[in-house]
Amino acid sequence: MGIAVYPGSFDPVTFGHLDIVERGAKVFDKVIVAIGKNRAKSSLFSIDERLELLQTVTSNFPNVEVDSFNGLLVDYMKSKQANTIIKGLRAISDFEYELQMASINKKLDDSIETFFMMTNNKYSYLSSSIVKDIAKYGATVSDLVPLVVEDALRKKFKNGNSF
Ligand code: PNS
Repeated sequence: MGIAVYPGSFDPVTFGHLDIVERGAKVFDKVIVAIGKNRAKSSLFSIDERLELLQTVTSNFPNVEVDSFNGLLVDYMKSKQANTIIKGLRAISDFEYELQMASINKKLDDSIETFFMMTNNKYSYLSSSIVKDIAKYGATVSDLVPLVVEDALRKKFKNGNSF
């Protein structure tokens, strides 16, 4: 089914994201997990840190690549000859925002399709923001993120970082 891009902030990557990566990699020939800039969010991890974490946790998928991009997603997709965007939908609350993004991307480039996957019920409540909140106050996030991410969160908050 060609090349798909799974864009997001991934600040940091969670088991919810990994579930989408794993299922997307079964559908598409290649999946590029691409870190983009969401102007509405300030981040805890730098782009390089997020890239490294994503690379580590997706290394077992041979057809998954990790990258970052500046500017518009549709321009990045053109540069990668990708024409499908993968997005995970958790709840009705995600729908409006995702519909807006999919519609804007379609308007910017009519050849692009957005492919939605329903998040595994196990992770329907999960978000990077919630993970950061929990980790910040010292509670365990071991059910929510891979071990390397848990360690990275612990380090960040031990050093007094905020987001
Ligand atoms: O995980 P997020 O924060 O919902 O990801 C949002 C992201 C990074 C995919 C989105 O903000 C994005 O595509 N940014 C790049 C700029 C762009 O193309 N904007 C127009 C479409 S919203």
